[in-house]
Amino acid sequence: MKRPLEMAHDFLAQVITKDDTVVDATMGNGHDTLFLAKLAKQVYAFDIQEQALEKTNQRLQAAGLTNVQLILQGHETVDQFVSELKAAIFNLGYLPSADKSVITRPHTTIEALEKLCNRLVKGGRIAIMIYYGHEGGDLEKDAVLTYVSQLPQQEYTATIYRTLNQVNNPPFLVMIEKLERYRHG
Ligand SMILES: C[S@@+](CC[C@H](N)C(=O)[O-])C[C@H]1O[C@@H](n2cnc3c(N)ncnc32)[C@H](O)[C@@H]1O
Repeated sequence: MKRPLEMAHDFLAQVITKDDTVVDATMGNGHDTLFLAKLAKQVYAFDIQEQALEKTNQRLQAAGLTNVQLILQGHETVDQFVSELKAAIFNLGYLPSADKSVITRPHTTIEALEKLCNRLVKGGRIAIMIYYGHEGGDLEKDAVLTYVSQLPQQEYTATIYRTLNQVNNPPFLVMIEKLERYRHG
């Protein structure tokens, strides 16, 4: 069976075309940025660590891809760069190869999510990979689940994909889709 991150990529690949603008909200080592850059017209990738931009830049150069803007700012500033997008991905938590005290935080994660939902085109999707084994991870997990659960069902579908029988807080996937048509009732 596919792992949650593979499912996230599959769900996004189903809707992204070469005409689309997309967002990597948590660049890290750039794996998701590279994945998005191969599919989309333009990628905006965010991280607050210089190291993330360096690693991602190397990865993109090696692949010969130039359609990415790397932004050394928090994803909560996404509205300064993007007015409309087809897809976005978050990998919450910390970057394993870097300072583990630099983690995504509930307040800024929700601010970014809200801005991205508002700017998502119809049929667009947001993937949120939730890692919550670290200190503070539970709070962020709960904040995301609470936010996503209250999205109006006439406008969005929100789903969850997670394993039920694994120890050690395995990461899981939350997907949001903005519906093509407003659903009455
Ligand atoms: C789990 S890692 C991302 C892994 C990445 N997707 C990859 O493919 O390697 C989480 C990243 O979020 C970054 N981060 C933390 N707070 C952030 C914020 N407010 N905005 C953007 N990135 C942030 C961290 O610096 C870290 O690199």
